[in-house]
Amino acid sequence: MAQAMASTSADKINYYDDKKHNYVDFWVGRDYEHESELIAINKLLKNRHYKLAMDYGGGYGRLTPIITRYADEVILVDPSVKQLNLAKKQLTGLAVRFVIQEKKDNVPAKDASIDLLVMIRVSHHLPDPRPVIAEINRVLRPGGEALIEIANEAHFVNRLRYIKHFKNVPKEPVPIGVHANGNEDSTPFVNHNPVTIEQAFVELGLQRIGKLSVSNFRHRLLKQHIPVKALLLGERSLQRPLSVINFGPSIFLLFKKPENKR
Ligand SMILES: C[S@@+](CC[C@H](N)C(=O)[O-])C[C@H]1O[C@@H](n2cnc3c(N)ncnc32)[C@H](O)[C@@H]1O
Repeated sequence: MAQAMASTSADKINYYDDKKHNYVDFWVGRDYEHESELIAINKLLKNRHYKLAMDYGGGYGRLTPIITRYADEVILVDPSVKQLNLAKKQLTGLAVRFVIQEKKDNVPAKDASIDLLVMIRVSHHLPDPRPVIAEINRVLRPGGEALIEIANEAHFVNRLRYIKHFKNVPKEPVPIGVHANGNEDSTPFVNHNPVTIEQAFVELGLQRIGKLSVSNFRHRLLKQHIPVKALLLGERSLQRPLSVINFGPSIFLLFKKPENKR
């Protein structure tokens, strides 16, 4: 069930409503990245089952079907009307509810009501992720878990670039793309330092219980010359070890809110 239309406060983030931009098309030719994310979700959620899960910033529902395997019911939340309408069309027959996000940085759910919150490829759009992290903590039930994907500024290739310029990877979010050129009217695109994001969750009392480095071979030349199947074999065996050095462009973290925490 979709609630009311998105309010103007969310207009700035509605790049995904733009007629000129088709997020579904973005995934054409990205089987390797998509499958890598499915591998990571299955690894982190293996043998777990939740009553109520939320796919926060779930878009057109690319990852919602896999989340439904681990939960009795999933709420797909997104600020984009266009994405939610696409999701409603393609997710028929699954135990999914659709909720529009009306207010920026808000997670539309009651306190302590969600057993698993998944946020994948949304951190990219959060120049200040702290209010959303506080909201995630608020809506998680004691004992609940959050699976968070971080757009990783500290990935291996970038780290070499920083070293070349005798710089450290910044602790704060780094604007990228159009936003990096000072275009404040566009949807923000940022990368994060995974250490900073993890600290923000830990400061709120959540414990990190899982970590994976994902899409480790996302390089044009590798993708051109090596079959996807072979890349995925490497991905399966290396997501965990490479997470120790924050190697890949995407870091997946699983956090748990302690049972005794309100
Ligand atoms: C890159 S898509 C990811 C969609 C889905 N999670 C996936 O991985 O396919 C980003 C989604 O986040 C939503 N979004 C953008 N800014 C947001 C924000 N500040 N809070 C919550 N969702 C946001 C967009 O509408 C879009 O559907």
